[in-house]
Amino acid sequence: MNQSTTIYPGEVFADTKVFDQRIRQLVPHYDFMLDTLVACIPPKASRILDLGCGTGELSCKLFKQFPDAKIVAVDYSPRMIEMAKYKLGKSEFKENITFVQADFGAWADGEIIEELRESFDACVSSLAIHHLTDEMKYKLLACVAKNLVEGSCFWNADPVIQESAQLQEIYLNLREKWTTNQGTTIQEVRSNMGISEPQGYSGQDRLGTLESHLNMLSSAGFKNVANPWRFLGLAIFGGWV
Ligand SMILES: C[S@@+](CC[C@H](N)C(=O)[O-])C[C@H]1O[C@@H](n2cnc3c(N)ncnc32)[C@H](O)[C@@H]1O
Repeated sequence: MNQSTTIYPGEVFADTKVFDQRIRQLVPHYDFMLDTLVACIPPKASRILDLGCGTGELSCKLFKQFPDAKIVAVDYSPRMIEMAKYKLGKSEFKENITFVQADFGAWADGEIIEELRESFDACVSSLAIHHLTDEMKYKLLACVAKNLVEGSCFWNADPVIQESAQLQEIYLNLREKWTTNQGTTIQEVRSNMGISEPQGYSGQDRLGTLESHLNMLSSAGFKNVANPWRFLGLAIFGGWV
């Protein structure tokens, strides 16, 4: 039984097996957000880095769009990696994905990770980097920029702070309605959540405004930054090197 009460930040649910269903009930437009992120990657991308791959949902979507791509999928949680391996290990893409159990904060802080030494044509992340402090987010962005081939891009789908308390309230109400429309309740979804303890470089949610993320990307070395999608407290942001 893959169940533990204390989980790593970002694992969200105590039992990894419920992640794929429950995350779709909890996060409004989860599939649309990830599909939009994938659509922002140029068609020629052949080596893609997925930071905080979780159960592999974003990597699966990447393979649908880029069946010949090689993906390096990083996550520090043995439970999430195990689930991602189980899913992708049965797929036609199993030879094209390399799983690396590592803390992307440690990589940003200078740890040498063999599989991450080559340059990538694109880097992606969803619902993971907001667990780092701002200092470490900046270091990670600089590290990503350095490891991308010139002209390639990075996209992150992550929660952002609303610009006003009113918008925050509207978002929370819509989020609850979203969950109800999926045939469950926020209470039921919350009952599946685990209690996270800080782990490695990650802690509780550390959100910034969209503007602060775009500024951070610029100062970390991205020449052109953009926000292709936003739904209140969720956004895709990134840029090109
Ligand atoms: C909410 S899940 C999202 C997974 C996947 N990207 C998706 O959208 O379905 C966040 C993932 O980030 C991972 N994570 C959080 N902090 C991390 C860190 N410092 N290093 C590596 N993985 C991390 C967690 O283990 C978790 O699997």
